[in-house]
Amino acid sequence: MLSLFSKSENLIGLDVGSHSVKLMQAYTDNSTPRLLSMGIAPLPREAFIEGRLAKPEVVADAIRLLANHLKIKRKAVAVSISGYDVMIKKIELPTMTEDELAVRMHSELGQYIPYNIDEVDVDYQVIDVSKNRPNFMDVLLVAAKKESITDFNNILRLCGFDAFVVDVDFFALSNSFEVTYGFGDERVALLDIGANKSIMNIAYKGLPVFTRSISIGGNQLTDTIKDFFNISVEEAESVKLGESVGKYPMRDLEEIFVSTITGWMTECRRAVDFYYHNYPEEKIATLYLSGGSCRIPGLDKVLREHLDIPVEIFNPISRIQYEAKQFDPAYVDYIGPQMAISLGLALRKTKEK
Ligand SMILES: Nc1ncnc2c1ncn2[C@@H]1O[C@H](COP(=O)(O)OP(=O)(O)OP(=O)(O)O)[C@@H](O)[C@H]1O
Ligand SMILES: [Mg+2]
Repeated sequence: MLSLFSKSENLIGLDVGSHSVKLMQAYTDNSTPRLLSMGIAPLPREAFIEGRLAKPEVVADAIRLLANHLKIKRKAVAVSISGYDVMIKKIELPTMTEDELAVRMHSELGQYIPYNIDEVDVDYQVIDVSKNRPNFMDVLLVAAKKESITDFNNILRLCGFDAFVVDVDFFALSNSFEVTYGFGDERVALLDIGANKSIMNIAYKGLPVFTRSISIGGNQLTDTIKDFFNISVEEAESVKLGESVGKYPMRDLEEIFVSTITGWMTECRRAVDFYYHNYPEEKIATLYLSGGSCRIPGLDKVLREHLDIPVEIFNPISRIQYEAKQFDPAYVDYIGPQMAISLGLALRKTKEK
């Protein structure tokens, strides 16, 4: 259908995490994106069990309340699938037309994907001509578990939203980075540490070179505090955030933080070592840290020491336009890194692939 004059519009970015849901509305034309609204709503622990959606109605209620509070009227949203439910793979194929590629993908998909083809949704994109072989091209293959798409459909149906774009956390994070900080001519590692999980995306010029889900997150700290002092999750969470200072011995708390975070460093080191094993010459220039758990005091410094890579906090909201009257800059500084994925989603538009 001819649609020369229809305008593309930004979608509502909806990042459904296990600790909180985040909503963001932005406006983008050709200049710096402008923030229109942003909000976050906590979820009770039981909404997700071991990272899987357990109570869609609880999550939908939180989203609906937040959307009402933010006066969001649009129904078209962009959501993203967690790294755990996604496989990203780069394959090399002989240069061919789009139609030929579609036929080939249809018949040969099974050989590239380590899952049952009936259980995944697959998308692919030609990203470049192959560096190593003339007459070959690099194709990025993305397979997402259907189960996680069904989870989203359930949530969105309950809160009356339409999923217009189903993205992937890794891409939403790098999209957020590309538009705000910008990829130069060097490799950067993006690391988002949430509550239940973390994702690492080592990217070059916007394209993922290495993606990995790492099973570390803030819940581990909360749960260790909970078990150690035999207290509720809620109390443990507030102790972690430093809200019950003096009630529990500082020495014990320090020990819990040190031992948990030492474990995290081992996991991160393993991921970076794996990357260097494959790309020994391609140095990571900087690691950008986001997600709610990047607020753990000193985490950036510990990462820098363990990985021997410069580490910076990634706050994309500080690089877009917003009204200081509407959003307190101190709040933006605080919340920005946690909103990194939702911004990546809010940058997506209706009229695009
Ligand atoms: N000041 C702080 N100190 C330590 N941890 C913090 C702080 N602020 C937030 N967190 C932690 O950040 C985590 C929430 O981060 P985030 O919102 O990125 O997670 P999520 O996206 O909901 O979860 P996930 O993506 O893992 O499912 C929680 O574990 C929370 O306790
Ligand atoms: Mg998250």
